Amino acid sequence: GPEELDHRIAAARARLGSKLVILGHHYQRDEVIKYADFTGDSFKLARHAAEQEGIEYVLFCGVHFMAESADILTPEHVRVILPNMAAGCSMADMADPDDVYAAWDEIHEVLGEDARIIPVTYMNSAASLKAFVGERGGLVCTSSNADRALRWAFERGEKVFFFPDQHLGRNTGYAMGIPLDEMVLWNWRLPMGGTTPEALRKAKIILWQGHCSTHQRFTVEQIEKARREHPGVHVIVHPECRWEVVQAADSYGSTEKIAKTIREAPAGTTWAVGTEINLVNRLAKQNPDKTVFCLDPVVCPCSTMYRIHPAYVAWTLEALVQGQVVNEVRVDPETRKWSLVALERMLELG
Ligand code: 13P
Repeated sequence: GPEELDHRIAAARARLGSKLVILGHHYQRDEVIKYADFTGDSFKLARHAAEQEGIEYVLFCGVHFMAESADILTPEHVRVILPNMAAGCSMADMADPDDVYAAWDEIHEVLGEDARIIPVTYMNSAASLKAFVGERGGLVCTSSNADRALRWAFERGEKVFFFPDQHLGRNTGYAMGIPLDEMVLWNWRLPMGGTTPEALRKAKIILWQGHCSTHQRFTVEQIEKARREHPGVHVIVHPECRWEVVQAADSYGSTEKIAKTIREAPAGTTWAVGTEINLVNRLAKQNPDKTVFCLDPVVCPCSTMYRIHPAYVAWTLEALVQGQVVNEVRVDPETRKWSLVALERMLELG
């Protein structure tokens, strides 16, 4: 039962002491987030990983690409553990590195070898893609710094190749003043990405056709309904939502920004939130003086985040106490080198 797991986790933690830090993403369920030493959005957790001193282990309660990034950002001897190795990200999986490399080559065949294209990868991607962008003068971004990352890229090139999330790329580019018809979608399943040389030449941003299945569920109709039923409601959504949804919302931002905005809002205000349900429910509980609900009436979980169960936390920590590192996420040295460059460029954006 939950109490027994609590005891086991507390005992293992006590044995590991300050050698261990537990990081927890905002989408983790309450039964897991309560064990986290630090919680946050993808960016904040990456920074926490990079700033730890004197630790030997990071237990990352989140998904695989986050644990990989923590491994890249911590010293070589620090071991990073993902409680359940099946906690992946379906959006990250939509950008198979070989498909991205092939697209990069095809785009250059059209635009010329010396076309000034800067590749930008969303944090939600394989470490090898982070290395790919690092080696080619690009960088990583998260939803909390995508605008600064794109500005950085446009200071160095004429076009941006953005993957895997089309929505984050489109929403961020649009907010910077790039019109929709200067963004082109690259569908990796089709020859030439399903686009044309003319469209590629005109485009400022080439968007990979990836998406987050959880955030794609939010609709403009849900926002209209929330506004009808709750006059004065504030609608806040994650930038992985579709463009129309972000346009119809009052504001948007990373999970940390959503949490902070609601925390700092006046008592008595009402918030309709377009992001993962574990975070929305937690915000509702933590802000009893406000009304907080999910835009989607059907429960809207991230199924892979949910794969981190306290039983896996107990198991992996107890193994560590025995000197066994199970479920380690390790990035090979060659990939590490360039992906670290791409991640550090992001961290330097501030
Ligand atoms: P942030 O926590 O950076 O907002 O992103 C969450 C996430 O990874 C959604 O896929």
